[in-house]
Amino acid sequence: MRIFRTSRILVTVVTALITIVAIAAVRAHDDSSSVAVPEYTVTMETQAELDSLFAIINADYLPLKPMFEKSCFDCHSDQTEFPWYYELPGIKGIIKDHVKHGRAYLDLSNDFPFAGEDDILEILEEIREEVEEGEMPLFSYRLMHWGRLIEGAQQDSLFNWIDQSTARMKELYQRHGIPTESEEEEADEY
Ligand code: HEC
Repeated sequence: MRIFRTSRILVTVVTALITIVAIAAVRAHDDSSSVAVPEYTVTMETQAELDSLFAIINADYLPLKPMFEKSCFDCHSDQTEFPWYYELPGIKGIIKDHVKHGRAYLDLSNDFPFAGEDDILEILEEIREEVEEGEMPLFSYRLMHWGRLIEGAQQDSLFNWIDQSTARMKELYQRHGIPTESEEEEADEY
């Protein structure tokens, strides 16, 4: 009788142990599956190097700025020129909406590095994509503002600037082990 009870206690204890070990194993597995890129703190030297690279990129941007002013500033800056039809019923709301959303994605008001939702590297790549696909400036805007598409030689110089700038930034990021946003997203997926 006594032996029987002891063995029951033993079984309970062993079962409990196995459960604890199993839970710990599952937890450990979960942890390893959600390991994110370690938070990166930019040292002062790295920041100084980044700042001087941004200054160089900005110097190369300034000759291209008139192109942005003509094609993008109405919706992506604090210098919107409202058109004559702004006062027409219903139009004001649409335009205000464009400027509000446009500036949240990309704000060109203060030169390079541009402000926006994403990391500046992503912003540059998005600008290239939108212009290449003819998505920006918005079609509805182009209907009322002819000749605002960035095409031909202008597009070439824009893309050269973007490609050169992103290559320089990626080189610096890599050298200092700074994760880019797309790498972080990839890491989150595991
Ligand atoms: C008529 C207003 C307007 C003009 C002009 C305009 N944009 Fe936009 N832009 C928007 C709006 C609104 C959005 C928000 C997203 C959307 O509606 O596609 C946006 C979004 C963007 C985005 C983010 C896209 C994404 O999906 O992440 C980029 C990049 C961009 N614009 C670049 C430009 C560039 C470069 C120019 C000039 C060549 C330009 N835009 C001209 C209104 C405008």
